Amino acid sequence: MYLSLLITFMCFAGEVFSSSLFSPCKKSDLPCIETTVNNALPKIFDGIPELGILKSDPQFIAVIDADLSALKYTFYNSTNYGYKNCEVSNLIINDDLTRISGKAVCPSLHMNGVYDMKGVLITLPIEGNGNYTFEGASFQLDFDIKLDKIKGSEGKTHLFIRKITYKPKALTPIQFNFQNLFNGKEDLAAVVKKFAKENWLDITLLLQDPIWEVSLDLLKTAVNKYLATFAIDDTILN
Ligand SMILES: *[C@@H]1O[C@H](CO)[C@@H](O)[C@H](O)[C@H]1NC(C)=O
Ligand SMILES: *[C@@H]1O[C@H](CO)[C@@H](O)[C@H](O)[C@H]1NC(C)=O
Repeated sequence: MYLSLLITFMCFAGEVFSSSLFSPCKKSDLPCIETTVNNALPKIFDGIPELGILKSDPQFIAVIDADLSALKYTFYNSTNYGYKNCEVSNLIINDDLTRISGKAVCPSLHMNGVYDMKGVLITLPIEGNGNYTFEGASFQLDFDIKLDKIKGSEGKTHLFIRKITYKPKALTPIQFNFQNLFNGKEDLAAVVKKFAKENWLDITLLLQDPIWEVSLDLLKTAVNKYLATFAIDDTILN
């Protein structure tokens, strides 16, 4: 059912959007593939309304819900900026194109929205709800992507990302700003602010996984919608 929908979609999409964002490369020519990927991704992240591909930069995330052992948080109506500046490198691609690993460096990510949080932040009790911003984030993301190959009705091969495994590493201090902590009690909020500045890395490690999970899942959806419209046979040459 899902597959036939996908194939129907490919046929439809192929009609409205036939020019490829990826220029042809030999399979063994990794620098060429890296360049074409780095040229294509920002265009996909910009969104392609004709293909139903939503913008990934900025990326809207309706809800991120996290229940960590000592801390619960929900982020609503979040917007994540900066994926267009990510640069992919160190690609390793297996021979049948079903596995790609490498790293992406994203030098300037930031995010804002509305938060609701309660629990213990590392060692500090925290409670609040209001606007939040995370600024100045620079990340390296080591990734390993498993792909499936699907034959389109036109007989050509399409790739489809099945799973992204990733390991994020923060490269620079992140400024965490939660407004209206403790219902506006400024003295308590000031303690958290100071703590967050001194312990940004531990806080990043504590908070980041649920955010990456939702965000990369949305990226995967966007890229898969594009991959469904484009056949690799004409692009990755033997
Ligand atoms: C999120 O945005 C929607 C639509 O603008 C709004 O109805 C909702 O109240 C917002 N949620 C929060 C928690 O601010
Ligand atoms: C929260 O952010 C929204 C959107 O940026 C803004 O309109 C609103 O005034 C902010 N609320 C507070 C209390 O600062």
